[in-house]
Amino acid sequence: MKVFESLRAWQAARREIHDSVGFVPTMGALHAGHLSLVDRSRQDNTTTVVSIFVNPTQFNNLDDLQKYPRHVNRDIELMQARGVDFLLLPNENEMYEDKYQFQMFEKSESKILCGAFRPGHFEGVLTVVMKLLNLAQADRCYMGEKDYQQLRLIQNMAKAFFMKTEIVGCPTVREPSGLAMSSRNERLTPAGRAHAAKLFEILSGAQDALHARRELERLDFKVDYVEEHWGRRLSAIWYEGVRLIDNVALDPKNEMRPSP
Ligand code: PAJ
Repeated sequence: MKVFESLRAWQAARREIHDSVGFVPTMGALHAGHLSLVDRSRQDNTTTVVSIFVNPTQFNNLDDLQKYPRHVNRDIELMQARGVDFLLLPNENEMYEDKYQFQMFEKSESKILCGAFRPGHFEGVLTVVMKLLNLAQADRCYMGEKDYQQLRLIQNMAKAFFMKTEIVGCPTVREPSGLAMSSRNERLTPAGRAHAAKLFEILSGAQDALHARRELERLDFKVDYVEEHWGRRLSAIWYEGVRLIDNVALDPKNEMRPSP
């Protein structure tokens, strides 16, 4: 595996790759959810590129940015062992040489759900993903359904801008308890982690969004939203000062299952 910290050096190396490229953008603190995307990329493409960049512009809350877990050395080992070909570790100065003067906006679906509670979040996500997709020049980019609103926005952005990369949605990988894997789960206590598994249970079982919200509040979660869009029930909640999101298909026939 070749590691690039310099984006200029990566761009020169990219010009020498002529076979199919799969790309997995991440913010690190890698877990089995990320690994499933890498595995899928390796199945579909000759070359797999992963990026790790904790993108400051998508954090609307400084505390969340500062507390975001970082384990670069462990992540490098994990990616090497998983058969990744190229790992990009850009720094903020190079990524935002323009000082964030140029930004990507979406006017509708980025304003609801997480967009309503995290001002500027999706502008940060869309802008950095546009930069990363231009850098990777991949045939396919693999993203998780766990971040369903993000996945949808990026699919629509790629389409709107005639980008050459296909955005491939992949199923949510869960802990045995049902809790969706997330880098932020590390910040929960063991008891909090067990309690947080109720989110998936309630989203899957409640008769409607309002009942799900009431049930979550009864269990001491602070609820940002439970809403239904695009044939899914989506929610964001807080527990032990950590923000957790999840979503399920309203029709279980539409739920993607991770391959064993
Ligand atoms: P991050 O949270 O690190 O997630 C990177 C990718 O892994 C995203 O596509 C996300 O949906 C996927 N992922 C996370 N948890 C998952 C799970 N349990 N099962 C399946 N896939 C999962 O999402 C981001 O980073 C950033 O916003 C990014 C797109 C990299 C832009 O900065």
